[in-house]
Amino acid sequence: MTAQYPALSAADIDLSDTEFWGWPLAERRAAFAVLRAAEHPPFFAEPETPFAEAGPGYYALVRHADVVEASRRPEVFSSGKGATSIPDLPAEFNEYFGSMINMDDPRHARLRRIVSRAFTPRMIKKFEGDVQLVAAAIVDDLLDRGPCDFVEHVAARLPLTIICQLMGIPDDRYDQVLRDTNIILSGMDPDFISEDPEQAVGQILTAGAELADLVTGLAAERAGRPGDDLVTALATANIDGEQLTSAELASFFILLVVAGNETTRNALSHSLMLLTDFPDQRELLMAGFDGRIGTAVEELVRYSSPVIFMRRTVTRDHRINGQDFHEGDKAVLYYWSANQDETVFADPARLDITRSPNPHVGFGAAGPHFCLGAHLARREVGVMLRELLTRVPDIRAAGPPDRLLSSFINGIKHLPCTFGG
Ligand code: HEM
Repeated sequence: MTAQYPALSAADIDLSDTEFWGWPLAERRAAFAVLRAAEHPPFFAEPETPFAEAGPGYYALVRHADVVEASRRPEVFSSGKGATSIPDLPAEFNEYFGSMINMDDPRHARLRRIVSRAFTPRMIKKFEGDVQLVAAAIVDDLLDRGPCDFVEHVAARLPLTIICQLMGIPDDRYDQVLRDTNIILSGMDPDFISEDPEQAVGQILTAGAELADLVTGLAAERAGRPGDDLVTALATANIDGEQLTSAELASFFILLVVAGNETTRNALSHSLMLLTDFPDQRELLMAGFDGRIGTAVEELVRYSSPVIFMRRTVTRDHRINGQDFHEGDKAVLYYWSANQDETVFADPARLDITRSPNPHVGFGAAGPHFCLGAHLARREVGVMLRELLTRVPDIRAAGPPDRLLSSFINGIKHLPCTFGG
């Protein structure tokens, strides 16, 4: 694929340029191959944002080894200084978006312990059964409806329903949750967010406030009438005599609904696209579904990398890949690029559902922030593919995806699908 764009050089690539993120995926892949081949991690200037002046710029960690190294050294590559987004989060954003993903230990560990206890074996068992039921109902509706937008009618519905059920959110609020999480991770896409910077900030803060109100209401209800859901578990969790404050509960809830929704949906949409583009791999999967679905899901997550990056901030002098980092430097871990690293993955632009080992970093690399929902996400993708491919065996993507304009989420807004004719 890289040979298609022989003229591309490092000087043509600016990861801070919004337009870059609208390039065709094959061209984006070629650009990251050029960056990986550079001697040191490339440096990019930061543009001004609607809520902050231009920051100092950032180093892009584009090689697999560099992403792994930074992830396993959280004491040097901090998540808690500034934010995990490229610009630092201003104070007013912290109220809603300052949860554990933007913290270091010991605060991070304390919060993660509370939520991990809420994911008890009983809770996990319950959601495994629910995923199957919800996926079956979505495919029933798809068969009734006929060819449609796969994102709206299939991919978005499973993670939304599951995360809302887990939280005990009533069905009549699902649409609001989806609308708010879409706005929060809208990137720079004018379909979701105003092109006027001030209005955009207002929209994001309003979405955060709506979700915070929702959980505050649910927690108050559960205080009198505990339920079998995560909000009850979080609101009543007591670790060494400590409970979550209401601000911690709100930002935690927002992190979970945003992370639960905006990632698995894209993994599912990319999966349909990839299994359409690589029909031999689809045939192979169907020839031995149970034996191959495990490695297939890992490969689909590697290939799609729904979360493109997370940022860290350097706390002290450290050298990676020939580059000296100093306190205050920003390092951006490009999972999407690490998952295409030709020194780790043979023929990375090829989907190989039997790839093993497959040390992809789609859920992050080993370290304290490794995706908390990885188990749930794998389950959702595997169960949905089984339902879809066995009950609608001729389903295919029927055209190019309408992609989200974002440097952070490798998103698909719409994807036409066809079957039954
Ligand atoms: C295919 C789907 C998913 C992908 C690709 C994905 C990817 C990621 C990535 C890259 C990180 C950051 C890792 C790091 O910084 O080292 C992360 C963290 C996280 N994810 Fe996921 N995720 C997915 C699904 C989910 C789901 C379904 C949930 C919720 C139930 C979830 C909850 C979280 C949380 C809470 C964190 C922060 C963990 C921490 O800071 O300790 N994710 N995810």
